[in-house]
Amino acid sequence: MIIAGNFKTNHTRSSVLTYCKDLDFLLQNGQQNEKVYVFPPSSSLPYGDFAHFRIGVQNAYPTSNGAFTGEIGLEQIRELRISTLMIGHSERRRILGESDALCKMKFDFFAQQGMSIFFCIGEDQQVREKGGIEEFLQGQLKGIDLSYSSLIVAYEPIWAIGTGVSAKLEEIEQVCTMLKAFGCPKVIYGGSVNAGNAGEIMALKGVDGVLVGGACLDLKHFFKIIRAGTCTLDSAKNQG
Ligand code: PGA
Repeated sequence: MIIAGNFKTNHTRSSVLTYCKDLDFLLQNGQQNEKVYVFPPSSSLPYGDFAHFRIGVQNAYPTSNGAFTGEIGLEQIRELRISTLMIGHSERRRILGESDALCKMKFDFFAQQGMSIFFCIGEDQQVREKGGIEEFLQGQLKGIDLSYSSLIVAYEPIWAIGTGVSAKLEEIEQVCTMLKAFGCPKVIYGGSVNAGNAGEIMALKGVDGVLVGGACLDLKHFFKIIRAGTCTLDSAKNQG
């Protein structure tokens, strides 16, 4: 299972460091079946050398360096020994106006550098009500090389992000299975995941993990979600 925590614009340099050291300690005795990722804000990125989880960046500009005020590029990421990047989170698309074309440009550039990529997609309430979720998501994936082996597609319906209301289990399963059939190698779900619902979401067909926002900010809570991933694997093994 893939369990990723997106801090968004939360935590400071010092609280990220404490969080990461504590998380590494908590994970040292765990089974290493789960792949854990943490995405702190750019100003608080630690070196990506933790033994039991990976650090990712929430955003970067498709360049090694140059005149792109406010952005970071490959040089800054590599210096921190980080090799994971998130692209196209709905908050960047919606609030900062990132287009499908820019997201694709980022994907092409960073995939060429061999980075692990969390590529976020998801429909808003309007699309959901009107229908055509499948076409909408396919549109967001247009031009993305789904055969790239370090690609993780994060399905995050916008109406479920930060609302406390996650999508229904059948909806999650249906869309994630569809994305798998469409060719996405790994698919995770995000949108109001918490310690209470993470286990049942991760047990769904087509779901390879979760992307967690609000509920990852408190390490105790995030660790419970990680444990839920491990339990999901244990029970699948016992049944099979
Ligand atoms: P949420 O955010 O868990 O707070 O809904 C998820 C995300 O935006 O990745």
